[in-house]
Amino acid sequence: MYYDPPLADGYGRRFPYLRLSVTDVCNFKCSYCLPDGYEKTYSDPFLSANEVRRLVTAFSEMGTWKVRLTGGEPTVRPDFCDLARIVALTPGIEKTAFTTNGYKLPQRARDYFNAGLRAINISIDSLDPRRFHEITGHNRLEEVVDGVRAALEAGFESVKINTVLLKGLNDDEIDGFLSFIENRPVSLRFIELMQTGDNLTYFRKRHIPATVVKERLLARGWRLRAREDGAGPAMEYEHPDYRGRIGIIAPYAKDFCATCNRLRVSARGHLHLCLFGAGGYDLRPLLQDDGQIEELKGMAVNLMQRKRAGHFLHDGDTGTRQHLASVGG
Ligand code: 5AD
Ligand code: SF4
Repeated sequence: MYYDPPLADGYGRRFPYLRLSVTDVCNFKCSYCLPDGYEKTYSDPFLSANEVRRLVTAFSEMGTWKVRLTGGEPTVRPDFCDLARIVALTPGIEKTAFTTNGYKLPQRARDYFNAGLRAINISIDSLDPRRFHEITGHNRLEEVVDGVRAALEAGFESVKINTVLLKGLNDDEIDGFLSFIENRPVSLRFIELMQTGDNLTYFRKRHIPATVVKERLLARGWRLRAREDGAGPAMEYEHPDYRGRIGIIAPYAKDFCATCNRLRVSARGHLHLCLFGAGGYDLRPLLQDDGQIEELKGMAVNLMQRKRAGHFLHDGDTGTRQHLASVGG
């Protein structure tokens, strides 16, 4: 299909995938993200349903076909299902996904599906109830695991689990996670802990390279799958005896950024060209009227030229990202 104008950067990368945060608020307190819980920092409101509609319309007209709703915890918004419906019904959007901590998922999975959501990522950092409680501040492992069942039963096409690897907290659970997906058709992705502005001490204590998982998988007969079209930076592994798959997301690995296919928009309408880029560019003034959509597209296309080849995490430069709740991991 031909898009006018298409979203592309100066390195030949295209951006079919938009990650849209709809709130900074989160009801969990993950120790690497919001250890003290959510604290309100700005007073201006999050994007409204109409602002979301204009934004997603503009991006779809420039070639975006997949949108993920993130947060914070996106489902804390009372109008979350309305937002999902607006995105899912936007012409050109083929896949509407969201990321959640699984709060109340058993009761809500069907509503999310009925709103048009087809892909769900659920965070589970430990399968031990006590540790799960320790990491997230909530004694809700059972509820979240039941949420995985509910999501599969509701008919989600893609059910993924996000597990942040944490030295001394869950790195002894890798085999337990493999057993978890033996009979569940889900993809469980181990994510290497990323340094943010807020978690430096924690990062030094808990970071382990994702290569430890890779070596374990290869030793146990897992094989790397060929990359699918439009796939993100996860390396996916499969095993004939397992229904589920294992993904590895290693942001510190060489060439991680070369396959970057995503852009991020924050809950207050700032375009972030990179998860770790500083600042962000305020799109909100151009989200106020349907007549501004062409101007908005022009601004996005121009901003693409500022997207850099990669991040500077290796140099300890987190690009002023305080924590990932501010722009949805
Ligand atoms: N490093 C790696 N992953 C993180 N997430 C949040 N903060 C970090 C971090 N510093 C993950 C969450 C969730 C997803 C939205 O982002 O665990 O799975
Ligand atoms: Fe909330 Fe996600 Fe951050 Fe955990 S990682 S505190 S669930 S925003």
